[in-house]
Amino acid sequence: MSHMWLESLITENAQQGFELAMKLSRMGVKYTQPSDEVRGKLRSSYEENADSLIASSQVVAINFQTVAAANNYWRS
Ligand code: HEM
Repeated sequence: MSHMWLESLITENAQQGFELAMKLSRMGVKYTQPSDEVRGKLRSSYEENADSLIASSQVVAINFQTVAAANNYWRS
């Protein structure tokens, strides 16, 4: 993927950090399965599957840990 989409892990606040974690998670899927068509087909099976949604949330949570650490937990 040539387009630069991740300039920095630093965000202004925790909510933006969470949104970045969502982006990282979705981009992980996109790199893993580059076909829009295949992802589109799989969307309908995961969007109504509780276990898939919990698994997706776990990926987001792991990425959020990284982003939060990079931002020193927005402490200052
Ligand atoms: C849509 C998150 C895994 C394919 C979405 C949306 C979110 C999301 C938040 C809604 C976007 C909106 O309507 O504004 C995630 C997360 C995932 C994940 C956090 C796992 C870490 C997957 C997988 C596939 C997939 C495994 C298929 C291989 C799609 C497609 C859409 C979608 C095709 C609709 C089109 C789009 O908005 O880009 N996803 N998703 N996602 N997801 Fe996922």
